[in-house]
Amino acid sequence: MYTAFYHLHSFWAYLVVLVVFLATVNAIIGSVAKRSYGPKDFRISLFALIVTHIQLLFGIVLFFISDKIRWFDADTDVSLIMKNDLLRLYNVEHPLLMIIAIALITIGYSKHKKKSISASKFKTLAIFYTLAFIAMLAMIPWSVWL
Ligand code: HEM
Repeated sequence: MYTAFYHLHSFWAYLVVLVVFLATVNAIIGSVAKRSYGPKDFRISLFALIVTHIQLLFGIVLFFISDKIRWFDADTDVSLIMKNDLLRLYNVEHPLLMIIAIALITIGYSKHKKKSISASKFKTLAIFYTLAFIAMLAMIPWSVWL
């Protein structure tokens, strides 16, 4: 079970990075070029929301079954987790920042849907998706992933 979820989370991350990148660039270009918002723009922003939420589910499962997560050990030592870069990354920074990134995408998506003017839709998506994308890039464990 662990191996299946580990590989799912690891491979799905490629799709997440690609789709969030495309949705972010699309929103920035739409905003700068003052394009009118169309069905293609709606689809790419929705697709980014869906793939990140699926990744959230894989991540939550991994959080409870990965041996890198030490919170559930009987002899958990918080100071040991916080002092060790790798343990801190997996136990605190990666899950926390990724949840914040996914929340930013969710908020950006729902806020943009409520706007009626194309420029406001693109601007909202551009701001929230860019922040989310930066948070994601910052918290990916690149050395073990690529
Ligand atoms: C968009 C969101 C996310 C992305 C792009 C992402 C990406 C990744 C990547 C690339 C790895 C390394 C995989 C490897 O070693 O090949 C990883 C590991 C991990 N992620 Fe995420 N992640 C995300 C969200 C989350 C969330 C929300 C959680 C927990 C609530 C989580 C928990 C974990 C854990 C526990 C590991 C370590 C698994 C292990 O090596 O045993 N991730 N993640």
